[in-house]
Amino acid sequence: MKKILIIGSNGFIGKNLIQRLNHNENKIFLIDKSLPSKSDLSLLKKKKIHFQKVDITKTNNFNKISKINFDVVYHLASVVGVSQVLDPKITIDTIINGSLNIIKKVIKKNTLFIFFSTSEAYGNNPKLPWREEDSMVLGSYKIPRWNYAKSKSLIESVIYEYSKKIKFKYIILRLFNIYGPHQSNYFITSSIINRCLNNLPCYLNYPGTQTRCFTYIDDLNDFLIKILKVKNIKSGVFNIGNNKRTKVKNLIELIIKLTKSKSKIKIKKFSTVKKTKMQDVIHRQPDISKIYKFYKWKPKTNLANGLKKTISFFK
Ligand SMILES: NC(=O)c1ccc[n+]([C@@H]2O[C@H](COP(=O)([O-])OP(=O)(O)OC[C@H]3O[C@@H](n4cnc5c(N)ncnc54)[C@H](O)[C@@H]3O)[C@@H](O)[C@H]2O)c1
Repeated sequence: MKKILIIGSNGFIGKNLIQRLNHNENKIFLIDKSLPSKSDLSLLKKKKIHFQKVDITKTNNFNKISKINFDVVYHLASVVGVSQVLDPKITIDTIINGSLNIIKKVIKKNTLFIFFSTSEAYGNNPKLPWREEDSMVLGSYKIPRWNYAKSKSLIESVIYEYSKKIKFKYIILRLFNIYGPHQSNYFITSSIINRCLNNLPCYLNYPGTQTRCFTYIDDLNDFLIKILKVKNIKSGVFNIGNNKRTKVKNLIELIIKLTKSKSKIKIKKFSTVKKTKMQDVIHRQPDISKIYKFYKWKPKTNLANGLKKTISFFK
């Protein structure tokens, strides 16, 4: 029986992961800064899953949790979404101070620490597809959106250094546009689906030629579950995501078709995008040969099938 901790368990990935974990084979602990809904709480109680309300940025919150020796820790807690990420204090505090607290207070010798990083860690690097050792190419320090990438990237380095000292195993996952049920409207896929279901206009940032690699949540979870059975963990940074690029415009057109929506696509002018201080990355694409080489993982779900499942959830 493994002792597993999920930090940031009330969010999109956390909710989906809890459904996939075997509750009989593992002892599962959850923490989040907000309480789950009443119905979710009673479901967790029935399944004997322990939940504790913990804000990871507060050092005195860890008294109980730091006494337990966890075999695996999934660290999902973060700010996400443009509006929050543009607030430097909350971004830096949650990602840097929160993650440092976890490393110092929760992670022990031999724990497997799974840290959720991001494709943003490559910034605007123009050379595609991105490999794990490639450089970060970032904009000016005055542009707040880069604080998210810089904070995640700094914690990647902290994990790399501390793992030598504390002797824990780690997997840093750089996620590429995960989508699926339970996702908040901060993300493009869920936001477009909800706009289409309400026949609202769908906005695309200037220049409208952006491409992304959309990855269905079940494919990510296949890896997160599979890793529990792996005996010889290869610590390191791994890209995880679909390696096929899709034009965001084509994603929106497909969602309009699948939802039989009357929504229309509108391109936001450059001046409007500039005002939000968002410096958009035009193309993103992972090289996923490393995660395939060590863990035999590759995505299985095609975009239309993943979208159909996500749309039926939001309906
Ligand atoms: N979904 C994606 O496509 C994507 C892409 C790149 C990276 N990621 C990373 O994956 C992780 C999970 O993403 P998600 O989509 O599930 O996000 P989410 O916002 O749905 O979930 C994050 C959870 O963390 C909790 N949290 C935030 N601050 C906290 C704090 N101070 N203390 C305790 N809990 C706190 C929130 O309450 C929330 O329940 C994040 O670290 C995110 O940066 C996600």
